[in-house]
Amino acid sequence: MSSLPELLRKNKEWSEGVRKRDPGFFDRLSHQQAPRYLWIGCSDSRVPANEIVGLMPGELFVHRNVGNIVVPSDLNCLAVLQYAVDVLRVEHIIVVGHYGCGGVEAAWKKSPLGLIDNWLRHVQDVASRHHQLFSRSMTEQQSTDRLGELNVLEQAANVCRTTIVQEAWHRGQPLSVHGWIYRLQNGLVHDLGFTIARDSEFVSMYDRALRAIAES
Ligand code: CO
Repeated sequence: MSSLPELLRKNKEWSEGVRKRDPGFFDRLSHQQAPRYLWIGCSDSRVPANEIVGLMPGELFVHRNVGNIVVPSDLNCLAVLQYAVDVLRVEHIIVVGHYGCGGVEAAWKKSPLGLIDNWLRHVQDVASRHHQLFSRSMTEQQSTDRLGELNVLEQAANVCRTTIVQEAWHRGQPLSVHGWIYRLQNGLVHDLGFTIARDSEFVSMYDRALRAIAES
């Protein structure tokens, strides 16, 4: 007997509901996936990728980790990115952070949580890089909100700098990178204005988005 009868029951209901609305849905989906978007978001249970943007199974390729971090030494993230760009040929990569992120808050407060502190060092690096955008007059919430936004910008910039995205742009493949941040309190996404479709736009877009964050 399963130890999770509740979840299995809900799964059955969900499957039946989908088939009732669209009898061929699972059959079609089992033959091919052709998502146009790659979502790189936080693992936080309150930020369910598909639901937030109203997309069905098959429409969104997803990678999530604590703090929506993209580092070129993370083979897991790179493998997702490479498969999405080279094989699935997604047209958009969206890095999605969220306000109230436990990872960003722990990084800011330097609260010890265990092994994950090593991972969150990447967020602390973002804070160090932009230390001039933080002041003593800011509340803790203002500081962590700003760090969350800067973290999205830096991780989206890291996506652009990968060999995978660089090579896709070089061969003229249509591919845009976006930076978004989600607010738990109202369920709305805010576009940070970092939207890049070719390498030549990088510097001006990065500066523009950084200025918008600094002035917010
Ligand atoms: Co989070």
